[in-house]
Amino acid sequence: MLLGLLERVLTRCPRSVRAMGYLKEAIGIRNRYRRVAQHWQPHIDQCRSMTLRAMERCSSRRKAIVLGGGLLHDVPLAELAASFREVILVDIVHPYFGRWTTRKFKNVRRLAADVTATVEALYWVSDEPEEQLPKSTPTLFLDDPELDFTVSLNLLSQLPCMPTSHLTRQRAHTTGAIDAYARDVIQAHLEYLGDLSGQVVLITDVERLKIDMMRRVVERKDLLFGLTLPKPGVEWEWQLAPCPEADSKHHYFRRVVGIEKFKD
Ligand SMILES: C[S@@+](CC[C@H](N)C(=O)[O-])C[C@H]1O[C@@H](n2cnc3c(N)ncnc32)[C@H](O)[C@@H]1O
Repeated sequence: MLLGLLERVLTRCPRSVRAMGYLKEAIGIRNRYRRVAQHWQPHIDQCRSMTLRAMERCSSRRKAIVLGGGLLHDVPLAELAASFREVILVDIVHPYFGRWTTRKFKNVRRLAADVTATVEALYWVSDEPEEQLPKSTPTLFLDDPELDFTVSLNLLSQLPCMPTSHLTRQRAHTTGAIDAYARDVIQAHLEYLGDLSGQVVLITDVERLKIDMMRRVVERKDLLFGLTLPKPGVEWEWQLAPCPEADSKHHYFRRVVGIEKFKD
């Protein structure tokens, strides 16, 4: 509790990121992992092994980037650091105490960046009903010829989460405009991954499953706002919030898709 408060004070991030709840959310995810780690393990193992298999296809190993790489539960960091000249962990927020995990790797760097390139602009128009919501045109590393490997790791479905919650609280924009923003950031990320140089892996949850004690799925929620992934992939279940983590009668799990070779 006290450490969490201290970490919130020590972590440096822009006002928009803090106000929209990214830091609180990241600390919440890490705390949940600590409570239910054994339930997450099969998902984590899948993420790590798919990343490593994809890495094997890289003929050149200069730069690797991990998009959504702030918390690192699902990243085979030691292997990436041993294989690439440079590894860059990209996340909109890097909670302060996470730095101890990466300190021992001299070729690993953390980059605090919004991969949608919309969050700052969205924050400033979020209470202005007359203002249009920003469109996403991601550019990070697009012009980097040394990029040999990219992993988008449990990030895609998260891209609209904090912005849409913030917009809903602000009540200035219509549900239609908010949903259109969500679809835009997801679609833009998929196109962006296709434009990066080198090998690209996409791992993302695509559906939220509410499951009762008889192991029946009683509700499904599409996390991609009706969009579909450009290719089929390997599917598995992420036991994100086993009962009673989120409620006393249900588990909340995720259907995850991993596309090991995102680009043709
Ligand atoms: C479900 S977590 C990913 C889990 C993480 N890979 C792990 O080890 O548990 C989603 C991550 O995406 C990051 N994120 C959300 N929106 C982002 C954005 N617009 N740009 C960059 N990172 C973002 C969050 O800060 C969070 O760390």
